[in-house]
Amino acid sequence: MRIAIFGLGYVGSVTAACLAKMGHTVVGVDIAPRKVERVNTGHSPVAEQELESLVGCAVRQKRLRATLDGVEALAGAQLSLIAVGTPSLGDGSADLSAVKAAARQIGKGLRQARSFHTVAVRSTVPPGTTARVLIPILERTSGKKVGRDFGVCFHPEFLREGSSVQDFFHPPKTVIGAGDKRSVKVLARLWRPVRAPLWVTSLQSAETLKYAENAFHALKICFANEIGSLAKSCGANGRQVMDILARDTKLNLSPLYLKPGMPFGGPCLGKDVRALCAVARRNRVTLPLAGAILKSNSRHLRRAVKLVLATGKKRVGVLGLAFKAGTDDVRESPVIGLIRELLRARCAVRVFDPRIHMERLVGANRAYVERQLPAFPRLLARSWKELLKTCDVVVLASNAAEFMASAPRLKRKVVVDLVGLLPSQASSTGRCLNLAG
Ligand SMILES: NC(=O)c1ccc[n+]([C@@H]2O[C@H](COP(=O)([O-])OP(=O)(O)OC[C@H]3O[C@@H](n4cnc5c(N)ncnc54)[C@H](O)[C@@H]3O)[C@@H](O)[C@H]2O)c1
Repeated sequence: MRIAIFGLGYVGSVTAACLAKMGHTVVGVDIAPRKVERVNTGHSPVAEQELESLVGCAVRQKRLRATLDGVEALAGAQLSLIAVGTPSLGDGSADLSAVKAAARQIGKGLRQARSFHTVAVRSTVPPGTTARVLIPILERTSGKKVGRDFGVCFHPEFLREGSSVQDFFHPPKTVIGAGDKRSVKVLARLWRPVRAPLWVTSLQSAETLKYAENAFHALKICFANEIGSLAKSCGANGRQVMDILARDTKLNLSPLYLKPGMPFGGPCLGKDVRALCAVARRNRVTLPLAGAILKSNSRHLRRAVKLVLATGKKRVGVLGLAFKAGTDDVRESPVIGLIRELLRARCAVRVFDPRIHMERLVGANRAYVERQLPAFPRLLARSWKELLKTCDVVVLASNAAEFMASAPRLKRKVVVDLVGLLPSQASSTGRCLNLAG
C-alpha cells in the first residue's frame, strides 16, 4: 500500500518505519523541517530503540521519505494515518489544532484522489471528535462524501515509548473504531501480518477505550504508590504486598470487578476501605485515591436513582436485594440504598430476590435490613409474578442466574438494567435503560 503518515513524532516515525519494513511505501509529513530532514537523510527524528536502523534501511530502499507538503504526500496514497500531537490546553481539554490542520491537508489532497481513500486517526482524541470534528473538515475541504469517496476510522495506538518498535510488531490488540465497512477491511488487511486480537467497535467506543486505558494505567500507578506509602507507614513491605496482589490473576488482575454495573456493597469492601483510610489518617499518610473510592461509589448510586426516577414511573419493582448474586447477604447492599432513595422520592417500591425470605434472615443480616429499611417486610414480593403485577418499571439490580432468562417476562415494562444483564433492545415493546451505554 502507499501510505501517508501525518506527524513524525514518537508514534508517527515508528509507524512509518515499521510499515515500510512490512513492505509498504510510506511518505511521512511533518511541519518541523528538522524532522523531515532527519528522515530524508536516513535518521530517526526521535530517540527510540531500533528506530535509527529501521529508518536508515527504509530510506535506502526508497520505501520511506518525508515531506512538509501534506497535499503532495497524498498523491497516489490509499491510506492516511493521523499521528500528530493532541497536548493538553490550559483547562485540561485536548488541543485539537494539529489534528484539525492534518485533516484539512488530507481533505485538500483528497480533491485530486481518483479512488477510495481511508483516513485512520491514530492520535488520541476525545470521544466524538472523529465524527463531529474531523469528518466534517474532511468533507468540507475535499468536497467529497464520507462513506462514498473516502472512509474514516479511529484507530487507537497502544505502543509505549522505549519499546515502541517491539510493541508495533507485537501489540496487545488491534482496535478499529469503524466509520465505514470498507475502511475496516483496509485496516484489517494492513494488520493481517501482525498477530493480535482484532476488535471492531464504533468510533466513539474506540476513542473512549483509549482514554479508559490510559486512565486505568494512571490509576494503577497511583494505587500502587498509595499502598506502598501506607505499607511503609505500617512497617509492612509495600513492594511485596503489591507484587503478591498483582500475581493474583483470578481476583485482582482479571476481568473481575471491571464491568460497569451496580455500586459495590457487602460486608467487606466498604468497611475495609473505611478502615484503610482511618489507618492512613492515623499514620498521617495522605491517600486521595483511597479516600475517593467511597465518594465515587455513592455518586454512582445517585446516578442509578436518577435513571430510575427519569422514567417518570412511580411503581417500581426491584429485582435482587442481596449485595451480589448467589448470596442472601444484604449487609451494605447498594440495593438497600437505592430503595431508600426511591422511597424518599415517593415511589411505591416492591422488591424480589429468590434467595431472600424474611423468616430466614437472621443475625447481623436481619439487624442491618431492619435498621436500614424498616418497611422491608411489606416491600418484599414472594414471586416474580407478584412483583410484576405491582410495578410499571423493573429495576434489574442483580445479575443472578435466575434473572438471566428474564427478558420475556419483562415485555411491556420499562426496564432499568443496572447490571448490564440485557441487551439494550431486550424488552421488545418497552424501553430498556442502562448506565453504561
Ligand atoms: N507517545 C506515545 O507513546 C503515544 C502512544 C499512543 C498514542 N499516542 C498519541 O499519539 C499522538 C501523537 O503522539 P506523539 O507522542 O507521537 O506526539 P509527538 O509530539 O511526539 O509528535 C507529533 C508530531 O506531529 C507534528 N505535527 C504537528 N502538527 C502537524 C501537522 N499539521 N501536520 C503534520 N505534522 C504535524 C509535530 O511536529 C510532531 O513531530 C498523540 O495524540 C498521543 O496522545 C502517543
